[in-house]
Amino acid sequence: MQVSLTVNGREVSIDAPPHTLLVYALRDHLRLTGTHVGCDTAQCGACTVHLNGRAIKSCNVLLAQVAGAEVTTIEGLAQKDGTLHPMQAAFKECHGLQCGFCTPGMVMSAIDLCQQHPNADAQQVRALLDGNLCRCTGYQNIVKAVQMGGQAMASSQPASA
Ligand code: FES
Ligand code: FES
Repeated sequence: MQVSLTVNGREVSIDAPPHTLLVYALRDHLRLTGTHVGCDTAQCGACTVHLNGRAIKSCNVLLAQVAGAEVTTIEGLAQKDGTLHPMQAAFKECHGLQCGFCTPGMVMSAIDLCQQHPNADAQQVRALLDGNLCRCTGYQNIVKAVQMGGQAMASSQPASA
């Protein structure tokens, strides 16, 4: 089936079987491989993208369900000149990653988290990020990064400035 949607601000049309999951449409059809597959069962959060502005697990959504929608992936966050989104900059600044496998999903979830809860404290960040698993970092620097990124988003200043 043919499904049209907007991905990272660009209108695309994807020809894929009806049972195709959004994550595989993004990775295999559009080559947007920054969205990772960790579990394929909606548990790890590595596949998190934004659907109409809210974070969702793209392994849990069919391509057919997002016809006409707006999807943003990790590749769509930085500005055209390469300037990182404040949340990406905060993860870099705080060393909020080690192997980086979970990071795209963490960043996408963190942006939504901070939009919904701009003043979340560390405990709230941990609770609200519980759908995103990291097997490397122990979360300490991820929590710091989310708080720094949230502040930078609120003030619209780059986190590392
Ligand atoms: S791959 Fe989607 S939640 Fe793990
Ligand atoms: S940085 Fe390796 S899984 Fe999170």
